[in-house]
Amino acid sequence: VDKPETTAALLQRRQKLLGPAYRLFYEEPVHLVRGEGVWLFDPAGERYLDTYNNVASVGHCHPHVVDAIARQAARLNTHTRYLHKGVLDYAERLLATFPSEIGNIMFTCSGSEANDLALRVAETCTGGTGFIATANAYHGVTQTLAKLSPSLGLPIDPAAPIRLIPAPSGGKDADACFAAGVRTAIEEMRVHGIRPAALIVDTIFSSDGVFPDPPGFLQAAVAEIRAAGGLFIADEVQPGFGRTGDHMWGFQRHDLVPDLVTMGKPMGNGHPIAAMAAKPELLAEFGRRSRYFNTFGGNPVSVAAGMAVLDVIENEGILANAAAVGTYLQDSLQQLAARHPLITAVRGAGLFIGVELCRNGKPATQVTTCIVNALRKCRVLVGTAGPQGNILKIRPPLVFDRSHADFFMTALNQVLINLSLD
Ligand SMILES: Cc1ncc(COP(=O)(O)O)c(C=O)c1O
Repeated sequence: VDKPETTAALLQRRQKLLGPAYRLFYEEPVHLVRGEGVWLFDPAGERYLDTYNNVASVGHCHPHVVDAIARQAARLNTHTRYLHKGVLDYAERLLATFPSEIGNIMFTCSGSEANDLALRVAETCTGGTGFIATANAYHGVTQTLAKLSPSLGLPIDPAAPIRLIPAPSGGKDADACFAAGVRTAIEEMRVHGIRPAALIVDTIFSSDGVFPDPPGFLQAAVAEIRAAGGLFIADEVQPGFGRTGDHMWGFQRHDLVPDLVTMGKPMGNGHPIAAMAAKPELLAEFGRRSRYFNTFGGNPVSVAAGMAVLDVIENEGILANAAAVGTYLQDSLQQLAARHPLITAVRGAGLFIGVELCRNGKPATQVTTCIVNALRKCRVLVGTAGPQGNILKIRPPLVFDRSHADFFMTALNQVLINLSLD
């Protein structure tokens, strides 16, 4: 057996080989070699509680998913230019989780590709070029999506037909505030001769700081974009596949039907599969003008992974677990907030929870970073969100149970007690 390389040696090789654009988590990076359920293991066999990774949504290395991938890989892997039953069975089963207005699905390999395709469809069907996104959104890595992803911190291109609007307020007039942002963006576009194509939002507003409430607040904003001739794209890469506990899709919390829906991350539990679902009348227009082929998108192995994930979601009661454990964890965090004034808000739906940290009325950015690093030392993995990075982002695999929530709470409580705030 090879001796594991030291952290320092891996860091050096990584820097040399992958270059400087990649970023690692934590002051003391974590080297992982194995995963199982909600646990990740380092080369010494130490285990870390994963409260961060939403991709391995039904649990790291879930045997049913691993088996489905292995079996199909051993049998056949081609692409969507041949007839194959697997992609149709999966499409049928996945579409059945959507409102009946959404009737077609196109497969990609990443959430970015799905969003990029949605932008193309929106441009084609509306004749517009203008897109609206939130102030700290993240929607992907392509040239266009990077411009719709202000959380990347790139300079804003004033010539781009893009308008960024404030994230939801979370208050009781969240619907009116958010809709007003969309209206202003549309008016500004008009002034500049830009025709609106779509409003795109992550329906749980992850990178903006996690804003699930109040349910239904998105409706007014969607009405605004539609009145201006644009479409509504629901980016479900984060909340999709049951994370919010109450529904399979984040937009269902808002009781609306999007024109286009994009999804990815948890779809294959780590296998790269993503998709864009659509109202058929939109794809009729798109398909008339354009053909579509994605070499790896919708291949038999990927759809086997996707199908196995749906099996686990159903068989293991994943939504009910996300709802129950999510509520339990949110309640525990509220209790902790009562003892620690640093915690100024706990927001969430199911197992997507944001814990906002402020001091003297200001975002406690550095303190949040300290907490994340201290939790890592306790072998609990968590991340941050929000434009100021002062929101703990808690988003574990959905097989997280109460004992894991208790483990997390004990660690967080201890870290907060040990925190020396001057
Ligand atoms: C909301 C949202 N949309 C799209 C993407 C892009 O997905 P991918 O990294 O699979 O391209 C991400 C990735 O973090 C995301 O969080």
